[in-house]
Amino acid sequence: MLKEKGVPFFPDSGWRDVVFGTGVILLLVILAIFVGAPELVGPPDPSNVDVKPHPDWYLMWPEALYALMPYNIESYVMFLMPVILFGLLFAVPFISLGGQRAPLRRPWAIAGVIGVLASIISLTYMGIKAPWSPDFNTQQLSDSEVNAPTQEALHGYQLFYDKGCQYCHQVEGKGGIRGPNLTKVGERLTPEEMTIRIVNGGHNMPAFGGSLSHDELNAIVAFLQSRKVTSNDKVPTAQSE
Ligand code: HEC
Repeated sequence: MLKEKGVPFFPDSGWRDVVFGTGVILLLVILAIFVGAPELVGPPDPSNVDVKPHPDWYLMWPEALYALMPYNIESYVMFLMPVILFGLLFAVPFISLGGQRAPLRRPWAIAGVIGVLASIISLTYMGIKAPWSPDFNTQQLSDSEVNAPTQEALHGYQLFYDKGCQYCHQVEGKGGIRGPNLTKVGERLTPEEMTIRIVNGGHNMPAFGGSLSHDELNAIVAFLQSRKVTSNDKVPTAQSE
């Protein structure tokens, strides 16, 4: 077959290499001249706490993968996953000797490629959204959005905002998504359960027992108790009247 159909490397396919290689280098030179490297801006500001460290886009999916997996298996995955994956790739020619090239005749290979692409795309999306990071830019709710039944609950919302609860908890559509949405928490939890959770913290929730006074704690619980479906319904009726 080689004698009948083959072509010598030089000059036939070597020439194609030359054309393609020159094209790639030309493209790089053009990009370097007209696009170039990103401009470096001034020195970093160490007092800025509002930072969301992000890798470049092509490393976003591994970041999301490590952020979402249980943290105690992270080191194993980091070391073993590349070894196993590359080992499998090197083994393919030994395991699978025959085979097909037409895509429709090799459904497993195609399914594998689609699975890998879908995982990378969805992990990149998660990496951009970064639900595991608190949202330090969250906006304060307006008084009508808070819709507090009492003065204490209104004060409670102010504390909720000032103490940074809203960095992690969404209320009425505003706030981070690190912790559960608290828009309707008044229906889920009793005041005692709320107090215990706020004082002791929880999994990924800091304990606030040492940084809230008794009155502040009660005010926040009063605010959270007023988070019910019905408290929300009042707003549109009040406005339509
Ligand atoms: C760093 C992020 C973070 C901050 C800041 C934070 N929380 Fe949480 N919170 C969480 C997480 C995560 C959970 C879920 C904990 C769990 O399941 O063990 C949670 C759970 C809760 C719950 C129970 C909700 C439920 O549905 O079970 C309440 C109530 C709560 N937080 C109130 C507060 C209040 C009040 C503050 C501010 C004083 C606050 N949180 C600050 C992350 C945070």
